[in-house]
Amino acid sequence: MQTTKFIWYNDKFIPWADATTHVLTHSLHYGGSAFEGIRFYNTDKGPAIFRLAEHVDRLYYSANALKMSMPYTKDELINIIKELVHKNELAEGYIRPIVFYGYKKLGVNPVGSPVECAIACWSWKAYLPYECVDIKTSQYIRIHPKSSVIDAKLSGHYVNGILASLELQGTHYHEALFLDNEGYISEGVGENFFMIKDNVIYTPQLGTILNGITRDTVMKVAQQLKFKMIETNITLEEAYHADEAFFTGTAAEVTPIRSIDDHRMKADPEYPVALQIKKAYLEVVHGKNPAFAKYLTYLK
Ligand SMILES: Cc1ncc(COP(=O)(O)O)c(C=O)c1O
Repeated sequence: MQTTKFIWYNDKFIPWADATTHVLTHSLHYGGSAFEGIRFYNTDKGPAIFRLAEHVDRLYYSANALKMSMPYTKDELINIIKELVHKNELAEGYIRPIVFYGYKKLGVNPVGSPVECAIACWSWKAYLPYECVDIKTSQYIRIHPKSSVIDAKLSGHYVNGILASLELQGTHYHEALFLDNEGYISEGVGENFFMIKDNVIYTPQLGTILNGITRDTVMKVAQQLKFKMIETNITLEEAYHADEAFFTGTAAEVTPIRSIDDHRMKADPEYPVALQIKKAYLEVVHGKNPAFAKYLTYLK
């Protein structure tokens, strides 16, 4: 991992190596923390953070699910994030804010534990470092929507993702795909799922998935490109016979899917729609599409 000079931790910019915490930190034991993944991109006007306000909103929503009282306002946090990126002198990269219950007491109920907050940023080029990915349905289903606040980005949810990723160790698959409790396609370990059939783009509706900010951007980009877009239940059988499929996420951006459970997508290796969406998405994040200018936050 590429380090940077500063991490912001509980009100201070401190050296990267000093950003450590106690082993009896509550969230380390029970997974009760909320986090975000945000990217910033180099543009003609300098580094710009993509959809910063929406990511901060989701962080507060997730923290609220854990009844954390946030020690900072949203505007304060936005300014801290901008300052951190500026101080670390990166043109492009990834930002990871995390809010967690700290060290004071153990026992599952966190009430009485301090709420702590840290933000790091670093250069993270490609999360899925492949042009296109081979994916495999996990033997684990996505967390049942009634088992948690499913659209909150909570660390504990990612145990589900860790288990699914570990299943793929030593295989040729690059990423796992979750089905939901009813057997429909839900999402990837850290990505939302889309498929294309006869030039129509389909994506699972909200309910068992993270309400991805990239998913939302891609739906708007697809609309601008005049594609028909449908949010619906998708079966694996439908996905196997789709023309194309792709993943979206802040980290993964737009990544075409080459095969699902070894069923090659029909459009492999061209992916005309996925690559058109990917190109348009990269234009948006790099400030090349005026219709989306409001999504970019510049440092100064
Ligand atoms: C489980 C899961 N689904 C979807 C996404 C994509 O969300 P976003 O586009 O907001 O990064 C992520 C990434 O944060 C994720 O972890």
